[in-house]
Amino acid sequence: MSLAPLTQRPAWKALQAHHQKIQGSHLRQLFDADPKRGERFSAEALGLYLDYSKNRISDETLKLLFQLAEESGLKARIEAMFRGDKINITENRAVLHVALRAPKGSSIVVDGVNVVPEVHAVLDKMGEFCNKVRSGAWKGHTGKRIKNVVNVGIGGSDLGPVMAYEALRHYSDRNMTFRFVSNVDGTDFTEATQDLDPSETLFIISSKTFTTLETMTNAHSARDWLLKGLGGDAKAVAKHFVAVSTNGAKVSEFGIDTANMFGFWDWVGGRYSMDSAIGLSTMIAVGPENFGKMLTGFHEMDEHFRTTPFEKNLPVIMGLLSVWYNDFFGAQTVAVLPYDQYLKRFPAYLQQLTMESNGKHVTLDGATVDYDTGPIYWGEPGTNGQHSFYQLIHQGTRLIPCDFIAFGHSLNPHGAHHDILMANVFAQSEALAFGKTPEQVKAEGTADWLVPHRVFEGNRPSNTIFADKLTPEVLGRLVALYEHNVFTQGAVWNIGSFDQWGVELGKVLAQRIIPELADKAEPKLGHDSSTNALIRRFRKLKGL
Ligand code: F6P
Repeated sequence: MSLAPLTQRPAWKALQAHHQKIQGSHLRQLFDADPKRGERFSAEALGLYLDYSKNRISDETLKLLFQLAEESGLKARIEAMFRGDKINITENRAVLHVALRAPKGSSIVVDGVNVVPEVHAVLDKMGEFCNKVRSGAWKGHTGKRIKNVVNVGIGGSDLGPVMAYEALRHYSDRNMTFRFVSNVDGTDFTEATQDLDPSETLFIISSKTFTTLETMTNAHSARDWLLKGLGGDAKAVAKHFVAVSTNGAKVSEFGIDTANMFGFWDWVGGRYSMDSAIGLSTMIAVGPENFGKMLTGFHEMDEHFRTTPFEKNLPVIMGLLSVWYNDFFGAQTVAVLPYDQYLKRFPAYLQQLTMESNGKHVTLDGATVDYDTGPIYWGEPGTNGQHSFYQLIHQGTRLIPCDFIAFGHSLNPHGAHHDILMANVFAQSEALAFGKTPEQVKAEGTADWLVPHRVFEGNRPSNTIFADKLTPEVLGRLVALYEHNVFTQGAVWNIGSFDQWGVELGKVLAQRIIPELADKAEPKLGHDSSTNALIRRFRKLKGL
């Protein structure tokens, strides 16, 4: 389908004019004018309640945003993704993370092959392996059971597994230790392994390509560490290393038997892979049953996204609101603020999902965009953030839309803790939206000179996502909610959300610099004067 350029679409132009009108309205007025606004501007699906009433929107805004989604061909793009079309055009690949959670018996065809049976074959193989490790049937080289699992990976082969392990820790086997090594900085590997016994440690080398410099460097260090600890017998590798990859040849070359390899496919993007075999560490931690429940949650959200009219569609609503702030209010960031300690790595996970997907400056046709794309996502769990950066959100000069995530029940009820936590999340969105006027501040007896410092302008937008409690199903729904939110944004911006060419240049340059740092002889440096000077200084510090 050929689309009009975004800024030429009628809904875009109407939104520009509408923005002129609504930007002066305060959330106080919007709430005063409609006593039911708080309930009306909400949507609920699959136990996730989305309150989006504290956004700088009216019925007209929503109507125009939904119209924009229509004019952007969002429906057709959703269908194309679910159908297995090669919508990742720059890599000529289908984008089918939704197939990773498709139920047994369903069918999604890629290049003439139904991929769902393959997905389930891998899940079954993972399940069998996990049960062996968890039960102690899988023994290490010296006959001891595995107590420690170290996932070695980076980007999508790390952030999803870490986030999911932390998020589902409540459901995990507490007799086992899980560690994650990603950074090529040797400190990461050293700290992750220094208190582990190699005879009880299993390494999962997670890399889609099995060529990533950081992961391969760490994998080789892991092998050295293991062999050193177990007396140097190379046969030990078979019992202490498994691989998750799409690249069987490279896995064999490394020395891992492909019988101990868990595969996935090129139609799974790294940042969309935590529910593929890349989730092997998650599955060992929480067991195949809980992993299956998480997949069910993902699938339910997929179906919600695919079938629900835009007006009630949670990812569509959230995606369009991001476009609204990003492109019409000039907001540069979105803060994600989970009020659940188990979600402490969720913002870090979302950084790759959102920014590697939508950090693009050309459209699918290769034209430079004349509007802003992917906002910066960031955040920390509440209430910690309140004592750190919330000051700027409340009283700074920038508009920062916030997503609060909250739960009705704590997994660790402790006296008044949960009420206090929830009071805080409700209070924050209230304070951001309504603020405190100079009159209110004065009425408290504040000295005139101090009044401006104590005024809260308010009118700062937020969503609240509210669920009963953090279960594996809810985690699946939550991650899929953001995946499809990102998809919605990318569809409106008409950008390729599924490639990541922007990470390549630095990788290539690093490969060129590595020998220049190690050469005994003074290398002939051909970089700019800054890079040359830094390299020379480093070589000097190394004593070269
Ligand atoms: O940083 C780029 C990237 O390709 C990510 O998209 C990916 O998640 C990560 O590197 C790791 O790649 P791999 O799983 O192939 O090691």
